[in-house]
Amino acid sequence: MPVSQTSPAALANINGVLMPLAEATVPALDRGFLFGDAVYEVLRVYQGKPWLLKEHLNRLAYSLNAVRIQGVGLERLQERMRATITAGPFGEATVYIQITRGSAPRSHKFPISSTPLEFIYVDEFHDPYQQARRHGAAVLTQPDLRWDRCDIKSTNLLGNVLAMQAASEAGCLEALLYLPDGTLTEGTHTSLFGVRQGTVLTSPRSNAILPGITRSLILRLAAGAGVPVREEVLKRGELDEASELFLTGTTSEILPVIAVDGRPMGDGRPGPVTRRLQQAYQEAVAEFVAEGA
Ligand code: PDD
Repeated sequence: MPVSQTSPAALANINGVLMPLAEATVPALDRGFLFGDAVYEVLRVYQGKPWLLKEHLNRLAYSLNAVRIQGVGLERLQERMRATITAGPFGEATVYIQITRGSAPRSHKFPISSTPLEFIYVDEFHDPYQQARRHGAAVLTQPDLRWDRCDIKSTNLLGNVLAMQAASEAGCLEALLYLPDGTLTEGTHTSLFGVRQGTVLTSPRSNAILPGITRSLILRLAAGAGVPVREEVLKRGELDEASELFLTGTTSEILPVIAVDGRPMGDGRPGPVTRRLQQAYQEAVAEFVAEGA
């Protein structure tokens, strides 16, 4: 099971001010705290280099625009992020970026003017997924109770949190979320893929899923490896037709799913297409790390 503890080395940057994460605080009237009026990103750092940085910044810009938080300079944010990474002993690390609408007396409507709070933290990454990546993970299906704009990476994550807690209490690594018609959308913090008759399937982009950065990479890697891909939904009642299932995400990378709701997936072992894509992923990371090194 993933352990979530920050390390003593973790560093925070709030509006440009660097500090140990343990000393970072935010105002009680911050709208991110009061309303979840905030968006975020999580990046993986490999050997000191932020992976898929441009893609994450583009998605952050999309989320900021969708919730109408203005005045965030992405160049400045990127500089702060780099400064925070280089200020610590960070080789294998994660970066969390959260932008809130800022502080104001509590009122649902936006304040006329507020200064966004720009919070970054960088921490060492002690990979909790190594075993699951190799041997596969069990998952639990849960109703998707989230709102209609899951394409925005907002910090309103109660639907995800409650489903993930149910999965964890059932001894599973992730929950797969399904809509009333049985459509599987995604995991609570991962994108979902299946393999049917040799073709990789994943939910098409819509308001019902987060456009995963890893998801996009997998689509490119699959195409590069000559694996056919179709953006098509998977249904909970049709999982028997799939030979493989896997999850993708920034920190999890590619996780084979070997059991759903206690029933084995395929032959109960990571499948060949998943393995091939894991290999391609590792090669892409190795190439990235070697670039300009
Ligand atoms: N989660 N779907 C959801 C709902 C997510 O929260 C995430 C990421 C993903 C995968 O997206 P990406 O490949 O861009 O990481 C899909 C992050 C890591 C988190 O909340 O911790």
